Amino acid sequence: MNLPGTPTRWYSTITPLERERALDKGARLLLEGGLVAFPTETVYGLGAHTFNPQALKKIFQVKGRPPDNPLIIHVARSSELIRVAEKVPPEAYLLAEYFWPGPLTLVLQKRKDVPTEVSCGLPTVAIRIPSQPLARELLHRINAPVSAPSANLSGRPSPTRAEHVWDDLAGKIDAIIDGGDASVGLESSVLDLNSSPPVLLRPGGITREQLEECLEKKITVTEQSASSSPSSPGMKYRHYSPQAPLYLLVGTLEKIEQKMKELLMEIENRNITAGLLCSQENKVGLYFDGVLIEKLGSREDPGYMAASLYNSLRRLDERGAGIILAEGIEERGMGLALMNRLKKAATEVIRVS
Ligand code: TXA
Ligand code: MG
Repeated sequence: MNLPGTPTRWYSTITPLERERALDKGARLLLEGGLVAFPTETVYGLGAHTFNPQALKKIFQVKGRPPDNPLIIHVARSSELIRVAEKVPPEAYLLAEYFWPGPLTLVLQKRKDVPTEVSCGLPTVAIRIPSQPLARELLHRINAPVSAPSANLSGRPSPTRAEHVWDDLAGKIDAIIDGGDASVGLESSVLDLNSSPPVLLRPGGITREQLEECLEKKITVTEQSASSSPSSPGMKYRHYSPQAPLYLLVGTLEKIEQKMKELLMEIENRNITAGLLCSQENKVGLYFDGVLIEKLGSREDPGYMAASLYNSLRRLDERGAGIILAEGIEERGMGLALMNRLKKAATEVIRVS
């Protein structure tokens, strides 16, 4: 599989016949040790059979992924947890009951027979059940856990459409199953259940507030600064980067708009094409010609804004933005995950109030 020069197959899933063929081929390729990109509700994943170390190694190669950044295991049902994890605490089943299938990943004790390529030597594994129907059906068909990071080149914004996967990985992987736009658009929340209280390693599709309500207690949220021994290895890398430098403005909308105007005037004088990543309410774009504007949606609906973030970042690159100014929002609900990604993408965070 995936011999040099092997073309990447693109499978549409619009008609029932296409869907059937995509799932059949996808499952077969995974069982044979191939790499298959498939849609999930968060972002597209690049899947390999969890018990095939060679296939797992290829994931790291094709993504250019740092060798110490472990993979998330995707399973079809909670009863499969014990195929990859051990000493599963009751809290895991409670969370599973509430949020699975869905955008929550649980970090649990690893079973010894899970290849070390999945966990990168850690004694733990990260697991989730995706809710996207094609992902679920694929997992059912291969009847084995599938390890899958996001299907982008490391350092690029995660893929929320099949085209994004194609742009990053065509010619390097065996197949892409096209399931349209990802509905959540940001990665799953990663919750570590190995300490008390549990630690939210990565905010994502299930909010901190939802997790605390389910567990009936406060959880710890990891700081985003890089540390020498991060509990979630993925957190120390600068992720989600567009090609242009991104400046994230944080404060009230009024103050942000004011600062954006100042910066845009400066940028205009320097002959650089500016890109604006902002809410629907932001009116700054009206005052300038030639500014590339990507509106994410209303500030009232951070979930909607989150769903368009990665596509907008890619669009600003394609459209030739030389510098990006992004509007920050309140870090509540899905706003926490959105701001987490924006901060990681940012060259600098500018506070304006
Ligand atoms: O929504 C998602 O989670 C998507 C879709 C495809 O499921 N996947 C995804 O995978 O975002 P990836 O590889 O881009 O991010 C996995 C994150 C990384 O931050 C990694 O460090 C963390 O999960 N992780 C994996 N195993 C871990 C472990 N044993 N302990 C702590 N963190 C872990
Ligand atoms: Mg990723």
